[in-house]
Amino acid sequence: TGYISFDPGFANTGSCKSTITYMDGEKGILRYRGIPIEELAEHSSFVETSYLLINGELPTREQLNRTSVQLNDHSLVHEDMQNFYQNFPRASHPMGILSAMVNALRSFYPELLYTDEGFEETFLRLLSKVRTMASMAHKISRGHKVEYPRPDYTYCANFLHMMFNTPVKPYIARKELVKALNVFWILHADHEQNCSTSVVRSVGSARTNIYASLSAGVSALWGALHGGANQAVIQMLTDIHEQGVSVQDVVRRAKDKNDPFRLMGFGHRVYKTYDPRARILKKYVDEVLNRLKLQDPLLDIALELEEVALSDSYFVDYNLYPNVDFYSGILLKAMQIPTNMFTVMFAIGRLPGWIAQWQENLIDPEQRLTRPRQIYIGSNTRPYIPIDERQ
Ligand code: CMC
Repeated sequence: TGYISFDPGFANTGSCKSTITYMDGEKGILRYRGIPIEELAEHSSFVETSYLLINGELPTREQLNRTSVQLNDHSLVHEDMQNFYQNFPRASHPMGILSAMVNALRSFYPELLYTDEGFEETFLRLLSKVRTMASMAHKISRGHKVEYPRPDYTYCANFLHMMFNTPVKPYIARKELVKALNVFWILHADHEQNCSTSVVRSVGSARTNIYASLSAGVSALWGALHGGANQAVIQMLTDIHEQGVSVQDVVRRAKDKNDPFRLMGFGHRVYKTYDPRARILKKYVDEVLNRLKLQDPLLDIALELEEVALSDSYFVDYNLYPNVDFYSGILLKAMQIPTNMFTVMFAIGRLPGWIAQWQENLIDPEQRLTRPRQIYIGSNTRPYIPIDERQ
C-alpha cells in the first residue's frame, strides 16, 4: 500500500474487462464481438454492426428490420432544438454544437430508461437523433429547410438524403457512396479504450446519464490527436496541394523535435504496425474514386506522403504507420461532406461503441468510480503568508 504506479496516458493500465472489441496492436488485428473488421466491412451494414456491438450478437433478419424501422421512427428532433442552431455564432465548430446538443437531449427526453427495453429505446433514439442533428446542422448553416428520413431508404442512404436533398433538386444517393458510408461508419464503430470511450466510461462511472456521458465523449473526440485528426489530415493535404509545400518538407517537419508539427493521420498508441482500418480504407478510396470516375489530387499526395514516410528511418524506428484518419477524409470528400463535419462523421460512427461501453460499464459489478491517483511533485508544507507581508 502507498505505492502508486506512474502511467501517463494510462498506456499500461487495463481499466476494465470487456467483451466488446479485441485489438492486437502488434499484428494489426481488430474484431468486434470476435468478428474480424475486414469481414464486417465487406458484408455488414452500419446498422447491423451497431446491433452487434450493443447486443453482442448479429441480428436475425426480423430484428434487423425492426431496428431499421425504429431508427426512422425516432428520427424527429424536437422543433425547439432547432433554436440552438440558429443562435450559435455562425463560425461555431460543429463538434461543439454536437456536444451541446447531445447533452441537451437529456432535457428533451428526460425519462431515463434502465430496463432492457428502455435501454434499447434509448440507444435507438441516440443513433437516430444524432443522425438528424448532424444533417440538420448542415442544412441550417446553409439556410435550408431541414430534411427528415424516407421510410424506404436505409440508415446511410437517408443520412445522405437528409444532408443533400432539396425540394428543387432531389438527391439520389449513388449506391457506391452508400456502401462507402457504411464501410466508413463500420470501421469507426468501436476501438476499445480509446480516449473518448474511456471518457464516456469515466463519466458514466459516476452514474451520470448516458446523454451527458456521450456529450463528454464527443468533446474528447474533437481533439486533433484523436477524431479531429481526420479534418487535420485533409487540411494538411490541401496545404501541400495549394501552397506548393513538398511532401519531403512535411516529412522533414514532422521529424523535427523542435517543431510541434506531427504528421497527421500517422501513428497510434496501440498499433505498432499498419492500422487495419487504414488498410481497408486505402483500398476502398481508390476503388470508389475509380468507379465513380472521380479524381482527387489529394489521394495522389496522400499515397506519395505515405511512401516517403514509410521509407524514412524515423517513421520506421518509431513504428509510425497510417491510421484510420489518413485516408478517410478523401472518402468523405467524395461524398461532398464539408471538411468541418468530418469529425462529426467520426462521432456518428463511434456512437454504437460508446453506447455499448457505457452500458457494459454500468452493469459490470466489478466496475468502480473512475478515480486515478497522482504522483505529487509540489512543494512541502509551508506557512500561509498574510497579503501585506508578501514580496
Ligand atoms: N508524427 C511525428 N512524430 C510522431 C507522430 C507523428 N504523427 N506520432 C508520434 N510521434 C512521435 C512523438 O513525437 C514521440 O517522439 P519522442 O518520443 O521522440 O518525443 C513518439 O512518437 C511517441 O509519441 P507519443 O505522443 O508519446 O505517442 P502516443 O502513443 O501518445 O501517440 C498519437 C499516439 C496518435 C497521439 C500520435 O501518434 C499522434 O499525435 N499522431 C498524429 C495525430 C493522429 O493522427 N491522431 C489519430 C489517431 S487514430 C484515430 C483516433 O484514435 O482518433
